Amino acid sequence: MRVYCAKNYKEASTLAADLIAAQILLKPDSVLGLATGSTPIGAYQRLIAKYEAGELDFSQVKTMNLDEYRGLDGENPNGYRYFMNHQLFDHVNIKKENTNVPDGKKDPTQACGEYDAKLERTGGIDLQLLGLGHNGHIGFNEPAEEFSKTTHCVDLSESTIEANARFFDSEDEVPRQAYTMGIKNIMTAKKILLVATGEAKADALYKSLYGPITPNVPASILQLHPDLTVVAD
Ligand code: F6R
Repeated sequence: MRVYCAKNYKEASTLAADLIAAQILLKPDSVLGLATGSTPIGAYQRLIAKYEAGELDFSQVKTMNLDEYRGLDGENPNGYRYFMNHQLFDHVNIKKENTNVPDGKKDPTQACGEYDAKLERTGGIDLQLLGLGHNGHIGFNEPAEEFSKTTHCVDLSESTIEANARFFDSEDEVPRQAYTMGIKNIMTAKKILLVATGEAKADALYKSLYGPITPNVPASILQLHPDLTVVAD
């Protein structure tokens, strides 16, 4: 495990973007596993700036996002497909057909089965970017009795619904379920980049990196990954 300690969110975002850019430079047809939420926004902005400066080419890059709310379609401003288009894809030369987000409008069996098949077809994720939930979740893998395996439908925990309510008009509008890659999908990535910033994440980050490996803190399994980089402030 490599841990980079940044001064603040801005520096953490620059570091994360540099690591993602290095991955694309070294392997232009990389498969990137991507995350939504507030954490990666700064890194995405820096990747866009690098593209605009002619330093980065996304034309061969493929992406697989971690998760999507059940019931939301790609046009819904609270959905993760919409988020990715607006925060990154619309601003770089990535081919939209090479970008993948679970389909929130399909039923769980179909949406999750199709997503696992897509993951399989990509040949595996080269670099998986992760944010960290306050309860130690990664993707939408909430604290549980067991580590999940493949893409599945989850009931979001109260703390996650509360944390994500800031993106919606009210807490009532936050969907109660989501489709997420499983822990095994995530752990199969060749490299993992976990970004966590802010005091509110400190406890979850400490437990994830130095506590016991337990499905009660889903990110704790990352301790077993052979190529984990952590960027925190
Ligand atoms: C989002 C995702 C989530 C977030 C986590 C942290 O695709 O997979 O695990 O990374 O909830 O969210 P923020 O960055 O908003 O604190």
